Amino acid sequence: MPAFSAAWWDVSLDPSVRADSHAAERRDATNQPFVNPPTDDGRLGLTYERYLHLDRLLDAQEPASRVPDERVFVLTHQLFELAFKQILFDLGVIVRTFESLLAMDDDAFRRLALAPLPRAADADGPEPFWRPALTAAARVRHIVRRILPAVMPLMGRGDDDDVLFSTLEFGLFRAFLTPSSGFQAASLRLIQRALGKTPALALDLYPGDVFGHNYTGCPVGHVAPGSPLILGEGYARAFPPDGSDEARVAAFDAVAHAVLTRLAPLADGLPTPPPTPRLSDPDAERLVARFRATLGPDADEAPVHRFAAELSDAAAAENRRRDALAPARVGAQALLARAPRSCLAFVLDRIVAADVALHAPDGDSFLTVHRKTVRQHVPDGSGTGGGGMPYLVTSQRFLFPLFPALVAYADLAAMLSEDAAERW
Ligand code: HEM
Repeated sequence: MPAFSAAWWDVSLDPSVRADSHAAERRDATNQPFVNPPTDDGRLGLTYERYLHLDRLLDAQEPASRVPDERVFVLTHQLFELAFKQILFDLGVIVRTFESLLAMDDDAFRRLALAPLPRAADADGPEPFWRPALTAAARVRHIVRRILPAVMPLMGRGDDDDVLFSTLEFGLFRAFLTPSSGFQAASLRLIQRALGKTPALALDLYPGDVFGHNYTGCPVGHVAPGSPLILGEGYARAFPPDGSDEARVAAFDAVAHAVLTRLAPLADGLPTPPPTPRLSDPDAERLVARFRATLGPDADEAPVHRFAAELSDAAAAENRRRDALAPARVGAQALLARAPRSCLAFVLDRIVAADVALHAPDGDSFLTVHRKTVRQHVPDGSGTGGGGMPYLVTSQRFLFPLFPALVAYADLAAMLSEDAAERW
């Protein structure tokens, strides 16, 4: 079942529909507005409370304990879920924009794919076709870069600072939450799939005994972060059915590369770009070595061999995909040479930056800030889901960086910039 209601996705990217206030309003079969229909005597009766469904939103918290600090624990996770929902929506807007671009004839495609960003003084603003995608991409980066790290300190700042959230109080209710874990955050998994990380979610990396014990009654060995055993009822959200709006979001990386591929003919006369970076053997070996290290010196080698074989297959498949992206690479070269300050490049740059801000092993990325929080509040590094700190280090440092978003574009764009992190 798709994750979000049909109403959530009921948007139009057609500038003429958006500009017509009657056409833009959502209406039912009898032509009445879904929200704020006039009453029989013609008055409008919508309230703040009803528009925002505060009855449901504010009643959706059920703490497991009487410990006061648990309330902020619930709300913080819910704030993250709302932020993830907005990110998914914004990625969906960009995907739809790309899809309509791809459906155009060559002339219209080129005109819009190369459409420049307006100058600040240009009162007309950007090309209306691009407006929703531009704000969506800017928002995705802003949410990931600014909002998520700003909200996380409600769970403590991870530097021996318990001012905002008490480790001792956390210890009073944490055990009630087993085996649930942020590890089951399906919306984040869908975001990660949109950002090219589907193969990472299929690797049996996570020690699944706690999940196996609690959800199936029998311990299992290592399982994949995207396994139905782990995601439970969230599985359909992370792996939505074909044809759903959410499945279109999951295809983000592929659709963006298709747009770049279509730009390849514009590279005539430009030097051939360096090949798309491949997943290297040393990268894979480091991940396997890390997997072995988390098992300890006396562990059986069989799971390590299994994992190494699985990774080798995944890496081969990923490298075949990257080789097939050669035309997208040429298209990326064309875009960056012919229209580096285009709406399209603006959007792609922001998604690349958002991927870094979510996953980067260093700095202030969400996963780093999260890991500091875990270190602060869980001195033994254990997780309610069972993987704990060793898993978090493995996935952030050794796994996710192997599968960057927009792989045929990101490093070329970075090369254009003196400050490789960002172009504008
Ligand atoms: C006191 C606060 C928190 C603690 C102690 C904590 C602890 C952990 C631990 C130990 C894990 C590893 C999985 C496991 O073994 O259960 C984990 C994973 C995760 N947590 Fe948290 N967490 C906290 C807050 C949050 C918040 C606010 C979010 C926001 C959504 C979150 C999202 C996640 C995600 C997405 C993962 C999986 C990460 C990955 O696969 O790379 N956590 N958490």
